[in-house]
Amino acid sequence: MNRILVANWKMNGSIDQFSTYLTDLQNGYSFKNIDLIIAPPFPYINIVKNKIVNKNIFIAGQTMNYLPDGAKTGEVNARMLKDVGSDYVIIGHSECRENRSFDDIDASKTVLSALEKKLKVIFCIGEKKTDSMSNEIIIEQLVCALEGIDKKYSEFIIVAYEPVWSIGTGVTPTPEQVLQKRQIIYATLYNLGFLKTQIIYGGSVTVQNAGSFINNAQIDGFIVGKACMHAGNIIEMLNIL
Ligand code: PGA
Repeated sequence: MNRILVANWKMNGSIDQFSTYLTDLQNGYSFKNIDLIIAPPFPYINIVKNKIVNKNIFIAGQTMNYLPDGAKTGEVNARMLKDVGSDYVIIGHSECRENRSFDDIDASKTVLSALEKKLKVIFCIGEKKTDSMSNEIIIEQLVCALEGIDKKYSEFIIVAYEPVWSIGTGVTPTPEQVLQKRQIIYATLYNLGFLKTQIIYGGSVTVQNAGSFINNAQIDGFIVGKACMHAGNIIEMLNIL
C-alpha cells in the first residue's frame, strides 16, 4: 500500500497562497508510491481540486456532520464534500472534538456516513495528556468509532494517532513511544477485523523529525499541520517517505 502524507491546512490559506503552493508542489512532482492528501478549508476545496493534475494528490475535508441536508447552520455533510471534489474527510480531529463538541458516539455515525458516500476516512485519535490512561483512551476511541462499521471498509480508513499534547506545541513523543501506541492501535484494529487500515502519526511533525518516526515507529505516514504550509517542506517530507 502507498505511504500517506496528509497536509492539514486548518483555518489558513487564501486563493493566492493555494495557487502558488500547488504550482510549486506539482512542478517536478515525481512521487508514485505516496498519496498526498491536502485538506484545505471548505471554501477552497473546489478551487484546489481544479488545480490538481497529479493522480497521487487527493483532497480531504477537515470535518463533516453525519446528518443529511437540513437546518444546521455552518455545517457540511458527506454529500457536499463529495460534490465539491473531496476524496477523503478528516474525522475526530482533536480541534473538532474540542471546538465542536464532537464525541465518540458522533464518531461512529460520522465514519459510517462518510464511507457510505464513498469518502475515505482519516480518523484521528489521541490522548490529551501523557498519563497511565493513554492506552485505554485511544482503544476506546477506536472501538467506539469502528465497532459497528462493516469490515469491508477496512482499506478505506486511515487511523491518525495524534497525541493532543503534541499538536502544534513543538513537543513530540519519542519514536519508541509512537511505536508502542502503533502496536496497541494495530492490535485493536486486528481484533475489530480491520486488517487493511493504515496507521499514520501526527503532532508537530517537521522535516527534521520525520525520518526518525518513519525509521523507528513503523508508521505508514504523517498528518502535518504547521509544517505543511510550505511546498518545500512537503517535498522534503515526501522524499523522506
Ligand atoms: P501540527 O498539527 O503538525 O501543527 O502539530 C497536526 C494536526 O493537527 O493534524
